[in-house]
Amino acid sequence: MEKSIKKFVEDIISKKELQNLDLQLVKEVLEKFFNKNKELNNSLEIKKFNNRSKEYKIVLKEIRKQLREIYGVFIEKNYSKRFELLKTLKKHDKKQTIIDILSLHKSTKERLPYYKEVYKKIFQITKKQKTIFDIGCGLNPISYFFLGYKPKYIASDISKKDLEFIKGFFKKINTNSKTIKIDLINEQEKLKKIKADICFLFKLLDSLETRKKHISKILIENIKCKWLVVSFSKTSLGGCKKIDKNKRNWLFNFIKKKGYFHKEFETPNELFIVIKK
Ligand SMILES: C[S@@+](CC[C@H](N)C(=O)[O-])C[C@H]1O[C@@H](n2cnc3c(N)ncnc32)[C@H](O)[C@@H]1O
Repeated sequence: MEKSIKKFVEDIISKKELQNLDLQLVKEVLEKFFNKNKELNNSLEIKKFNNRSKEYKIVLKEIRKQLREIYGVFIEKNYSKRFELLKTLKKHDKKQTIIDILSLHKSTKERLPYYKEVYKKIFQITKKQKTIFDIGCGLNPISYFFLGYKPKYIASDISKKDLEFIKGFFKKINTNSKTIKIDLINEQEKLKKIKADICFLFKLLDSLETRKKHISKILIENIKCKWLVVSFSKTSLGGCKKIDKNKRNWLFNFIKKKGYFHKEFETPNELFIVIKK
């Protein structure tokens, strides 16, 4: 990576909530932005990425905003404490530590009161499957003990740091599970090599669509699992506006077009769609 761009990228992710992101992902978002805003790119280059320039500040603000939508908004204040918490995970009394870790990410925190019910409903439809593939997983694999059985778990995300953490968790609980880093926008070919029975796509598709429109349909086609479980938030990112179920019609229409079987259920905050391919 060119020196000035690398420095700029490091400056962009210097905010606490963005520190888990890979430099390469940030560079891509930046390049996409520059392709659309060539004048800003040119003047920044002329000014040698001077961090006091107006253009530098404009771009910094815009890229951070985009990255927060992809990743940062989901993280709670004490997110960096997860590694400390993991160290305290005991063999016989895991429950509180697991709850504390799951509370560090907005999606898992919101799901906490409903985990058992959610997994019960999923496996009533699909039956207990041998291998679970969780993509864009965030901290969801930490809910392993709510599953109600001990499947093999393959956890995947774009964040290397989050996967290191999950790997540490799997090691501690001694399960036959693994992690794999996949950028679902640019590395979908990696999906073809994963052998699993059921794939979780929890609260993932909205953030992928922000980066690339219509990517979800290609993703669903590329996943080699018989069962998929897609979930969506029922409220907007701030949590105040309700999202109309009609907004998910693109998926219901796609399921119908492909002739897939599906069943849905809801918790107060989340819509779950279980799909059989
Ligand atoms: C809203 S969080 C949901 C996390 C988890 N699935 C859950 O519901 O608890 C979205 C997750 O998608 C991941 N993500 C965003 N863009 C991604 C991409 N291009 N490839 C893979 N994962 C991505 C983020 O790192 C984040 O963990």
